[in-house]
Amino acid sequence: MARKYYGLLEGKKGVIFGALNEQSLAWQIALQVYGEGGQFILTNAPIAMRFASLDVLSYQCGNASVVAADVTKDEDLQQLFTEAQSRFGGIDFIVHSVGRSENIRKKTPYENLRYEWYLKTLDISAISLHRMILHALPVLNDGASIVALTYIGSHRIFSEYNDMSDAKALLEAIARNFGARLGERKIRVNTVSQSPTHTTAGNGIAGFDALYEFADKLSPLGNANAEECADYVVTLLSDLTSKVTLQNLYHDGGFSQMGMNERVMRLMELSASAAQPQP
Ligand code: NAI
Repeated sequence: MARKYYGLLEGKKGVIFGALNEQSLAWQIALQVYGEGGQFILTNAPIAMRFASLDVLSYQCGNASVVAADVTKDEDLQQLFTEAQSRFGGIDFIVHSVGRSENIRKKTPYENLRYEWYLKTLDISAISLHRMILHALPVLNDGASIVALTYIGSHRIFSEYNDMSDAKALLEAIARNFGARLGERKIRVNTVSQSPTHTTAGNGIAGFDALYEFADKLSPLGNANAEECADYVVTLLSDLTSKVTLQNLYHDGGFSQMGMNERVMRLMELSASAAQPQP
């Protein structure tokens, strides 16, 4: 069925961080934002540009500009927002869809983290939100909307989420802290806490398939996919949510409110009976 668009972002301009490939949340967000009439610069780390197929996404989004920027580098962000200013004048939205943990990639246990990588995880995945808002401030229009992607691992322990749990807790705190200060300019800052989704970052987490299945079975609506995430993010970038700020908004099919349901209980019972010694 053809997708319906509502022109929710007509005339809005912005910057979208973190599209790597078609699976990326930011990729789907870019497609939906474009469909709703938004214009934007696509950006990713210079090193990721070698693997990312951003020219394809740019083409699908009306030849959106692509600018390389490492979110841990002030000079890259400064250049990026200067480019945004010369292209658009001012910007109305920023999407932060960036994360990386070398400790997760190298399967370092939490109790034995390599601190050099831990600091890098925090820098790329959390402090980058502070850094990008700081450099965007002169370019942000009053009434702009900033959205960052997060995961419930910031509040609850999912053992293999490792140091990203800490990074997401910091990311959410930065969103609230900066959001509180930007209220006088009617700029809002929110985080969207998304279901497990099969992406490059997601698939890199040990036991991700089990995590995905568990969440899918426990959530009353099942896991939310990347396209659904993009739909939700579009509403937060639009004027329909102009009084929503400092929030961590769950987009997870209801998972965050669940404890147990019959589907998961049945699986537990099956596994318990399989573990019984045979007579
Ligand atoms: P992804 O791997 O497609 O996106 C992560 C992006 O971060 C990549 O484009 C990567 O190049 C970029 N990045 C890494 N280091 C960077 C740097 N130094 N400078 C600039 N960009 C850099 O994976 P996904 O899943 O789309 O991740 C997007 C966001 O969504 C992340 O914040 C992730 O934690 C969050 N998220 C993902 C979930 C999942 O299950 N996939 C669930 C909930 C949140």
